[in-house]
Amino acid sequence: MKKTWGGAFDKSPDDLAWRFGQSIESDSVLWREELDVSIAHARMLGATGIVPEADVIVSELEKIRAEIEIGSLKLPQDAEDIHGAIEAILFERIGEIAGKLHTGRSRNDQIATVTRLWLRRRCADLRRATRRLQSVLLELAERHQRDPMPGYTHMQRAQPITLGFHLLAHFWMLQRDVVRLDFVEKACEECPLGSAALAGTPFPIDREMTANELGFALPSPNALDATSDRDFIGDALHACAMIMQHLSRLCQEITMWTGAEYGFMRLDDSFSTGSSIMPQKRNPDFAELIRGRSGRVFGHWVAFQSMMKALPLGYNRDQQEDKPPLFDSVRLCVDSLALCAGMMETATFDVLRMKETACEDFSTATAVADALAATGMPFRKAHELTGKLVRECEKRGWTLMDLDESRLSEIGLEIPVSILEVVDVEGSIRSRDLPGGPGPEAMQRQLQKAKQLLRE
Ligand code: ARG
Repeated sequence: MKKTWGGAFDKSPDDLAWRFGQSIESDSVLWREELDVSIAHARMLGATGIVPEADVIVSELEKIRAEIEIGSLKLPQDAEDIHGAIEAILFERIGEIAGKLHTGRSRNDQIATVTRLWLRRRCADLRRATRRLQSVLLELAERHQRDPMPGYTHMQRAQPITLGFHLLAHFWMLQRDVVRLDFVEKACEECPLGSAALAGTPFPIDREMTANELGFALPSPNALDATSDRDFIGDALHACAMIMQHLSRLCQEITMWTGAEYGFMRLDDSFSTGSSIMPQKRNPDFAELIRGRSGRVFGHWVAFQSMMKALPLGYNRDQQEDKPPLFDSVRLCVDSLALCAGMMETATFDVLRMKETACEDFSTATAVADALAATGMPFRKAHELTGKLVRECEKRGWTLMDLDESRLSEIGLEIPVSILEVVDVEGSIRSRDLPGGPGPEAMQRQLQKAKQLLRE
C-alpha cells in the first residue's frame, strides 16, 4: 500500500481501517487536475529557486499526464487517494527528488485547489450541455410558435397557448440554471494553493504565479478559510439540484404527453424502450429515469450539508465525503441534459391533436370575459356573464367556438358580437400579445430575446 505519511508510526494501519479511509476509487476522476496543479506548483518551485531540481519533476509529471491520457498508465488502486497515487508513480520513476514536490504545500490546500479546478472545468461542460438543450427547445419553439395547445393550471385545461410558448417556458428555466452555473464558477475563482495545511508556509512561494497558471482569478486571502471552505461544492450541488428539478418537470411532461391520454408527442425509437411482455408498448424510460434520478441529486445536496454542518475550521477528514456526491451530481446533470436534448430534438409532435384538445372544453372563456371587460364592464361582472354564456352553450351542446351572431342573440344575454373574435383558440392567443404573452408579436420578441442570449 502506498502512503504519503508514516514516519512517526510503528505499525501499518489495520486493513479495514485503511480501506475505509481510501478515496482513490472516487477521486481518480481528479487525475488531470491533480497533475495540472502539481505541475504548476513544481514550475513555481523552480522559478522561485526553492527546488533547483524542479525541471525533472515537471517533465516527469508531464509524461505521467500524457501516459494516463492515452491509457498506457493506470493509477495504482491501492493508494490512499489521488495525491498518494500520483506521488507513488513519481517516486517510482525519479526516486527521492519526487519528495521535493510537496515543499510548501499540503494535501489540504491541494485537494481544495484540485477540486475547484475540476469544478470550474465541469461548469463549462454543464453550461455547454444546458445551452445545447436550450437551443433545441428554441428551435422547436420557433417551428411551433403558431401551433395551439391547451395551457394548464391544476393539470386542467385553462387557456389556449402555443407549443412554442410552452417550450420557451422551459428555455427560461434553464436560463436561470446558466446564471447559477456562472455563480458556481465565481465561487471557484480563488486559488487555495500555498495555504498548505491551514497556516501557510515559510517558503517564499509565488502564489500569484500558480493561481495565474491554473487560470484562477487570484490567490485566496486566508489559508484557514481556503482549506476549510467547501461552499463552492454546496453551490454546485444546489445548481445541479435545480437543473435536475427542472429536467424532472420536462420529463414528467414528456412522460404524460407521449401517453395515449394526451397523445401530443412521440419519442423517436432511439429514445424509447419496449416492454418484455406487451409488444405494442413504447415506454419513455429515459424521461422516467431522469425524473427518478433527480431525487438522488437532491439527496446529495442534503448529504453534503449534513456532513459540513458544525465542522470546526481547519481540514477535517469528514470533508473527503464532499466529492462522491459532487461527482455523481455533475455526471448525472451533464448526461440528463444531453438526453433531454436528444429526446426533444428527435421527438415528433401531433400538432393537430394538440389543437383539437385546445378547442375542446371552454378554454377561451377567459378571453371572452376579458373582451367583455374591455367594453367597460367590471371584470367580475364579465366573469359572471361569461359563466352564464358557458352554461347556455353547454345546454345546447355547443362550444364557445360554435357561437355566431344568431346563436348569440338566441341565447339573449346581451353579449356584444365583438367577443366572437376571441372565442376560437387562435383569436384568444392573438389577443394576448403583450410582452410575456403567447400572441404572435410577443412570441417574436421572446424568440429574439432567447436567440440573443444563446449568441452571447
Ligand atoms: N482524500 C482527502 C480528501 O479528499 C485529501 C486530503 C487529505 N488530507 C489529510 N490531511 N488527510 O479530502
